[in-house]
Amino acid sequence: MDFQLKTLGLARACAEKCDALVLLVGEDFKPGRDALSRLVADALAAQGLGSQAGKILSAWRPSGVAAARVLMVGAGDGSARAVRTAVRAAVGALRGTRARKLLVCLPEDVRPAGVHAAVSAVSETSYAYTATKSKPEPRELSKVIIAVSDATRPGLQTRFEAARGTALGIEFARELGNLPPNIATPTYLGQRARLLAREGGFQCQVLGPKEVERLGMGSFMAVARGSHEPLRFIVLKYQGAAASVSPVVLVGKGITFDSGGISIKPASEMDEMKFDMGGAASVLGTFRALAALKPRLNVIGLIPSCENLPDGRALKPGDVVTSMSGQTIEVLNTDAEGRLILCDALTYAERFEPCAVVDIATLTGACVVALGAVRSGLFSSDDELAQALLDAGESALDPCWRLPLDEDYAEGLKTHFADVANVAGRQGGAITAAKFLQRFARMYPWAHLDIAGTAWRGGAAKGATGRPVGLLVDYLLSQQPPATRAAKKARSTPKPASKKAAPAKKVSGTRAR
Ligand code: BES
Ligand code: MN
Ligand code: ZN
Repeated sequence: MDFQLKTLGLARACAEKCDALVLLVGEDFKPGRDALSRLVADALAAQGLGSQAGKILSAWRPSGVAAARVLMVGAGDGSARAVRTAVRAAVGALRGTRARKLLVCLPEDVRPAGVHAAVSAVSETSYAYTATKSKPEPRELSKVIIAVSDATRPGLQTRFEAARGTALGIEFARELGNLPPNIATPTYLGQRARLLAREGGFQCQVLGPKEVERLGMGSFMAVARGSHEPLRFIVLKYQGAAASVSPVVLVGKGITFDSGGISIKPASEMDEMKFDMGGAASVLGTFRALAALKPRLNVIGLIPSCENLPDGRALKPGDVVTSMSGQTIEVLNTDAEGRLILCDALTYAERFEPCAVVDIATLTGACVVALGAVRSGLFSSDDELAQALLDAGESALDPCWRLPLDEDYAEGLKTHFADVANVAGRQGGAITAAKFLQRFARMYPWAHLDIAGTAWRGGAAKGATGRPVGLLVDYLLSQQPPATRAAKKARSTPKPASKKAAPAKKVSGTRAR
């Protein structure tokens, strides 16, 4: 889909040829003297339209307007959330109308976050999964113009471009997540990662069972043992700053199907455990966005990927495995497999001397009970990192909520037979899982996002959401060093490398919106 940001007041929007024009009407809508303004003013006066976000009134070829179809939609207080609600409703209503070219007129005083919300809402609502349908219908929308009264207002253009790159990443993650588990195997994820790296101009290594064994990832290997599909350990390297700048490392849980293993899950809704690679998909989606946005920082992506199946060779309750860190783990429940593959990836992350490590995992049903499908669970050993992720979540409308990591929560992980057990009791399950991971993340500032409730929706709207790609991309963009004029110029007129750039300073907490 081709997005464009244009300066286009309502008067000029009247003359713009398109299949559908979506006009957001906020509480403080001030009509001009153009045909669209008159249409809205009439409708408001007759109470056929209100400013309640998402309320729609449509018209067919109103006079003085070049668009075939006009959708007036309430945009409430004009906040990013209200814009999202309005655009979702309008684009949803256009489904099946075969509109190809769409014009979205945002409220006059829309802020950068509102532009972001409009782009993501169009992209999100017009996505349809077709990969394994025998008669796929092509996407209807192909060209989308986002119209604002003045596109040169500070921040609008930058935020628009960030939103466009992020939308590509979110869609990439959704598509991977939705693929059936007989297609989206660990091997397939490795292939997609390689392709993404080639197209995006960054590096990628895909390790198989032999290399992983050489690394000593005994915990990860133990989970993979129950499946005939070979494991993969994917390493992505995006370099947008000098090699001396320490990277952010993203670690994504890549269980392409979680049956529970010998501690097998009940049959109902087990199909949804194909989404257990949502963390991996969000890391790949974030790299898709990095390829589009080329920010000035270094990012490493790590994805341990395998299936969790019961088999004659599978991991059993009671088994003790040795992780790459040297710590031994007693496996009391083979369904707590996510932490067993993540712990070795967290140890592997040490070699990059990262400035921060964020792992992303559909880790616990307990997190779904605690936070539902609205906010992802956030755990962190570092207040500054936690705050930066919380801020990014709010900014991208992809929110998370911080949960505690008191040492007392680790009591239940004690065992007589190894250094640590992989499960504690039923209480505080999301927290005890995070406490387990924390033992392997002592060498750097670390955060853990439990996305079990947010990575996909069940029921009638079943499908991957692409979360938390929005949060992650926003966080990464906020970690860039401030652009100096000289650096900006150097980027627009590429020159042969001269002096080495100074290492980037951390700038979290200083963002302006
Ligand atoms: N992938 C699941 C977590 C999950 C469950 C996500 C349901 C979304 C919905 C994870 O591997 C798992 O099975 N966790 C167990 C841990 C338990 C055995 C301590 C869980 O949450 O039940
Ligand atoms: Mn499990
Ligand atoms: Zn799992």
